Amino acid sequence: MESLIIRGGRELRGEVRIGGAKNAALPVLISALLTDQDLLVANVPHLRDITTTLELLGRFGARIEVDEKSVITVNAGTLTSRRAPYELVKTMRASILVLGPLLARFGEAEVSLPGGCAIGSRPVDLHVRALEQMGATIAVEGGYIKASTSGGRLHGAKIVFDTVTVTGTENLMMAASLAQGTTVLENAAREPEVIDLANCLIAMGARIVGAGSDVIEIEGVSSLSGASHRVIPDRIEAGTFLVAAAVTQGEMHLHDVNPAHLDAVTARLRDAGAEISMTESGVSLTMRQRPRAVSISTAPYPGFPTDMQAQFLLLNCVAEGAASVTEHIFENRFMHIHELQRMGADINLHGNTALVQGVKQLGGAQVMATDLRASACLVLAGLVAREQTVIDRIYHIDRGYDCIEEKLSQCGADIRRVSDSRSPRVHAVQ
Ligand code: EPZ
Repeated sequence: MESLIIRGGRELRGEVRIGGAKNAALPVLISALLTDQDLLVANVPHLRDITTTLELLGRFGARIEVDEKSVITVNAGTLTSRRAPYELVKTMRASILVLGPLLARFGEAEVSLPGGCAIGSRPVDLHVRALEQMGATIAVEGGYIKASTSGGRLHGAKIVFDTVTVTGTENLMMAASLAQGTTVLENAAREPEVIDLANCLIAMGARIVGAGSDVIEIEGVSSLSGASHRVIPDRIEAGTFLVAAAVTQGEMHLHDVNPAHLDAVTARLRDAGAEISMTESGVSLTMRQRPRAVSISTAPYPGFPTDMQAQFLLLNCVAEGAASVTEHIFENRFMHIHELQRMGADINLHGNTALVQGVKQLGGAQVMATDLRASACLVLAGLVAREQTVIDRIYHIDRGYDCIEEKLSQCGADIRRVSDSRSPRVHAVQ
């Protein structure tokens, strides 16, 4: 296993090019299952979850090519399997996204239940119930979701999601694209990644209106063609680097971002005292003083993103004043609190709200990553902590951040990756 070693206390100053959005690239690559022609996808980030997705598509028998410009071509013309095995699904919950496309195109699918993960149980009942409304017969046997349309086609339905679900919306949008008749998704997710998938499906010949609103209407067609699609920038990677510059009281210029996707995040960073300017594809942040504490409450897009909660909780740990951080999306997304408390943070958790009293400085420690965004928060903590911080289990980070230590080093951070056998043991600094 590998670790990151960070010596804190340095202001970040520099420029970073933001990669393609992980949470857009995953459903877009999987949408290749809906056609027997080539789907070309550009701006795909180099991440563990992407590798897992391509491995899963390969297990089905899809042909996958990567050209010299890193454009990925997927062709699912002749599949040999429609079973998503546990050993892959357990490493990436988003594998559930293959259920809708396989059912819509082939009338059958077997997908391992994803199992819980560090940020809560994360069921898939909304996906399953909606597909049953479209005519699928679905049973859970031996830890696998076994789905079939019994030889027929999925048919259109009016689906109202009890809870806003991003991959649920994406799964059903893909399934409905090839269903017989029209499907309406109500209480649909409005995330930019949902819009990006819709745009890709429309380029393939799907008939979709309303993506980005909470009501999406899909008129099924008999088949879809290939297409070329460029994935949108990763708004969470961008937000993470902006917080890194804010907490180190530095300066950051991000390129290849869509500022409109960051409204909730940049608004709170301004409240914290950051100076922010934007161009069509760039965002710049300057922080000249210790951040002010800002209370946040996560919500579905366009509300404050849950994937930025841990990063802002860290900002509040070193900010001037006190703030509350409330998590409304997942029931257990505060695993980072214990690790931050070991670094000297003053946090009290009451149900789904963390009350944070800012402290002047955190102390370096040996900490352990638990989930993707919690581990990003620990990297930011290491950047501002006294002395040295060692973060173990950083495979979590590699799932969602491409070369995070290189990008931070370019901006002046003292950060390096070592294999565990070489990482020094750090005693918590009280
Ligand atoms: C997507 O996860 C993202 N992942 C997550 O990003 C993100 O945190 C989340 O949306 C919320 O924005 C991808 O897009 C691959 P949900 P998803 O379905 O779709 C409950 C990251 O760090 N729910 O919107 O799995 C669920 O338990 C990851 O990049 C059900 O109860 O999340 C949660 O409480 C982490 N039943 C809420 O809905 C269901 O069938 C929202 O979950 C589905 C969801």
